[in-house]
Amino acid sequence: MKRSEINRYITEAKRFFDQHQFLLPPFALWTPADWRTKGHECDEIRDNLLGWDLTDFGSGDYARVGLLLFTIRNGSFSNPAYPKEYAEKIMIVREGQHTPMHFHWSKCEDIINRGGGELVIQLYMADQKDDSQFDGKPFAVVTDGVRRTVRPGQTVRLAPGESITLVSHMYHEFWAEGGMTLVGEVSKVNDDRTDNRFRTAPGRFPAIEEDEPPLHHLCTEYPPARP
Ligand SMILES: [Fe+2]
Repeated sequence: MKRSEINRYITEAKRFFDQHQFLLPPFALWTPADWRTKGHECDEIRDNLLGWDLTDFGSGDYARVGLLLFTIRNGSFSNPAYPKEYAEKIMIVREGQHTPMHFHWSKCEDIINRGGGELVIQLYMADQKDDSQFDGKPFAVVTDGVRRTVRPGQTVRLAPGESITLVSHMYHEFWAEGGMTLVGEVSKVNDDRTDNRFRTAPGRFPAIEEDEPPLHHLCTEYPPARP
């Protein structure tokens, strides 16, 4: 992705979060110049990949396959310095924009429609013997505390205010219909470096072409702590 595109989508995201009165923590506004002054007191942000995260999943076509995320809080699978056992993200899904089919080895997450259009989620369970494949049997899924049985490949629609629980090994692909959608995530600890099993998408983080300076670092780009 071009840096100018990333800057544009982050600027648009700030406006969309404001419109929905979803307020971000202070580090959302820190610039690259601000980051050069930050020491080890900010290690949690660097180590646990808090902050801006925007990806086309290697598709080269962000409008069709992509997602903008901001990780508000997160713990760590491996670093005992961080006892937090939960994570929270806020995301923007554009109309018709897909997050490709994937599951998480460890993470259980609630995906919440917090406003805008409808969020449509297609679901499968991974086959227990070969997790590159879908299991063929109906399975249970819970939306806002209510359990139901769905067929493999069935879609569930979430209107604003509704949410769904995605357990580990449950394949999910989602997109928005009827307008740009504000999507929350409340989950167990999240590690996008190791815990995502994409069915076909080539990557989780984008390759970036630097055609202008960044407004904000993405969560994978923070400079080392000032000594
Ligand atoms: Fe997911």
